[in-house]
Amino acid sequence: MALNANALRWVPVFERLRQEVGTDDAPLSSYLYDLEALRCHAGSLTAALPPGFELFYAIKANSDEPILKTLAPLTHGFEVSSGGELAWVRSHFADTPIIFSGPGKTNTELTQALDLGVEALHVESRHELERLAWLARERGVTAPVLLRVNLAIEGLQATTLMMGGKPTPFGIAGDQLPDCLAWLRAHPEITLRGFHFHLMSHQLDAATHLRLLGAYLDQVRRWRHDYDLSTLDQVNVGGGIGVNYREPERQFDWPTFAAGLTELSTQRDGLTVRFECGRYVTAFCGYYAMEVIDVKHAFDRTFVVARGGTHQFRTPYAQGHSHPFRVLPVDHWPHSYPRPEVRGTRVSVVGQLCTPKDLLAYDAPVEHVRAGDLVVFPYAGAYAWHISHHDFLRHPHPRHIYLPAESPASSLD
Ligand SMILES: Cc1ncc(COP(=O)(O)O)c(C=O)c1O
Repeated sequence: MALNANALRWVPVFERLRQEVGTDDAPLSSYLYDLEALRCHAGSLTAALPPGFELFYAIKANSDEPILKTLAPLTHGFEVSSGGELAWVRSHFADTPIIFSGPGKTNTELTQALDLGVEALHVESRHELERLAWLARERGVTAPVLLRVNLAIEGLQATTLMMGGKPTPFGIAGDQLPDCLAWLRAHPEITLRGFHFHLMSHQLDAATHLRLLGAYLDQVRRWRHDYDLSTLDQVNVGGGIGVNYREPERQFDWPTFAAGLTELSTQRDGLTVRFECGRYVTAFCGYYAMEVIDVKHAFDRTFVVARGGTHQFRTPYAQGHSHPFRVLPVDHWPHSYPRPEVRGTRVSVVGQLCTPKDLLAYDAPVEHVRAGDLVVFPYAGAYAWHISHHDFLRHPHPRHIYLPAESPASSLD
């Protein structure tokens, strides 16, 4: 089973953890984050970008402080999508550039963004523009804005999660843009800095994503010309780079993508192009480990019942996949009763919830798994703990362990 080679660094950590808590009464579930792997990965993403392209991190994927501390010097800034995320970032990072996006912003959140001096606000509707203009006027400030546009793009290839290109609540539908641009001309308290697109998540193909970006840039150039827009300095092309949970050996090819961006650079028209990626930045650094409580058979299937579940690691259920995992054998078995085990078969890995939906992996081949072993799920650093319904059944929360980066992160120049 494919598992990031860095996972082997975790084996001694797991072993120590098990010694600490691995009694019959307290089987283990734990999140482990490899900050050194995160540092290397994020550093390589930004290093590959050609001039004129910037990578912001969408903190909704994982906003833990050690994760953000690792990423702050390696990325160009953070994208936040709520007042809570905004306050969290500002309380820990006084100077990191912030962009504020997301649907359904309240007046309180818009005010907070103006007061905390965000780099840009991504506005989702004409009504949000009106409210922002009113708040900016009251404060005597100018609001830096990107209009998020929901655009129907010819030949757009759908992924498993589409945010636009079809009717969705996100952004301003393309046909309403002329009206918004006319309104903006009469409202100097808002500066139109650019346009924002985030039409999809889970993009796995670099060439397809480059074509999509090319279409965005062409569209912006046409708007700039047709509406004589003189204040633009950027295009935000969203996040959406996917992680291939189903075929982990075939991940999005960032080096090829970055090389393609160099060719795309002529279409930038002098504008800075910003990414706000979440999943692809942090998924690879995280692991979710569960201790096996039972191994049992029902009809023609074998179930590995492990400590924790989808209330702690919702990613497989949210994405509808069988999550890859690896069994870490734990030889220590202090009990006098027999140890349930299976060899050379296919299993479903389930958690402790009273629902058949608590399924993390299915039809997955294992060589050998026993009660007391650990099953470890990689690619658990993004949209994992942070999207899970933690207190369902009130099980104890998993431990969160951060393996520190080995050397201090180097700053971006
Ligand atoms: C507006 C916006 N930007 C960025 C992201 C991050 O997307 P991803 O984690 O797929 O890169 C999201 C995710 O939902 C989003 O809605």
